[in-house]
Amino acid sequence: MPAIEILGLEKTYKVGFWRKRPKRALHPLHLTVEEGEIFGFLGPNGAGKTTTLKLLMGLVFPTAGSARILGREWTDPAVKAQIGFLPEQPYFYDYLTAPELLDYYGQLSGVSGADRKRRIPEVLSQVGLSDFKGVQLRKFSKGMLQRAGIAQAILHDPKLVFFDEPMSGLDPIGRREVRDLMEQLKQEGKTVFFSTHILSDAESLCDRVAIIHKGVLRSVGAVEDLTATVQGKVELVWQGPQIPAFMKALTSDCHVSGDTVRAVVNEKQQDAAIDALRRERLRLIAMTPVRTSLETYFIEKLQHIEESVAAAAGSDR
Ligand SMILES: Nc1ncnc2c1ncn2[C@@H]1O[C@H](COP(=O)(O)OP(=O)(O)O)[C@@H](O)[C@H]1O
Ligand SMILES: [Mg+2]
Repeated sequence: MPAIEILGLEKTYKVGFWRKRPKRALHPLHLTVEEGEIFGFLGPNGAGKTTTLKLLMGLVFPTAGSARILGREWTDPAVKAQIGFLPEQPYFYDYLTAPELLDYYGQLSGVSGADRKRRIPEVLSQVGLSDFKGVQLRKFSKGMLQRAGIAQAILHDPKLVFFDEPMSGLDPIGRREVRDLMEQLKQEGKTVFFSTHILSDAESLCDRVAIIHKGVLRSVGAVEDLTATVQGKVELVWQGPQIPAFMKALTSDCHVSGDTVRAVVNEKQQDAAIDALRRERLRLIAMTPVRTSLETYFIEKLQHIEESVAAAAGSDR
């Protein structure tokens, strides 16, 4: 059973003074997230990530479509007990301590007194806030607040958690901590669905990612697969130390080390490069596809989309 099945959810907001102007935030979205996955929902600001999460949480009504969460209709109240949610910019009362905050949220989500008593110290230790039990939230750093927010989301031991931009505004150490926490949740068998525009954080963490841009889903897949497909670059290694002039013209990315040479060329030029080596009677030792980062993939993919949109608009004129 998939953890999340999004079946054509879409959202058009009404904007403007009279709320008459429609603003399409999310085109019909179809997406399945399997149980036990860490799933990254990626896209630049304004892409529709928060809208999607709010729809799934039942915080806004969809214009059309539906979803299933843990095998049930997404609006089923029974779903709420099995999911946790960290909103994008959680607001907590400044003068509460973390245990008080958790007690309050625990009551709201129907966790019994006995369970709260047992779970609160457990989750505080899990998020590394055990030593700050008596400190008011107004004295917390951004990273500590984020961890308190995560503690709130996992207090009732949900099977599936939704985090909206959990790393935003955090320094590298804070990011790492949040990442470790998500990995820990996965180890416990939970499903983690989180949004981010910080691609490097998704890269090492996610089993699969989806890329959304301007409310439209652009691709879904394992990070390795996504980044392997577009970015055609290959690394060639040959016995040197000569670098044929032709190769120098193809790429500036050539390095001699001992009696081997390593060069990175565009995939399209791979055959020409190999021919050049053969002509010079140089022995090819290895040829490896170079995987680029999700960041590069993302930028190129979005650039490509913008260009094709511009071209389509041009041809309409
Ligand atoms: N309540 C709202 N009313 C009108 N437009 C909204 C509302 N919330 C979001 N939008 C618009 O919908 C689009 C998607 O926003 P959002 O889902 O917040 O994107 P993201 O979380 O990816 O940054 C944006 O263009 C945003 O301005
Ligand atoms: Mg957002």
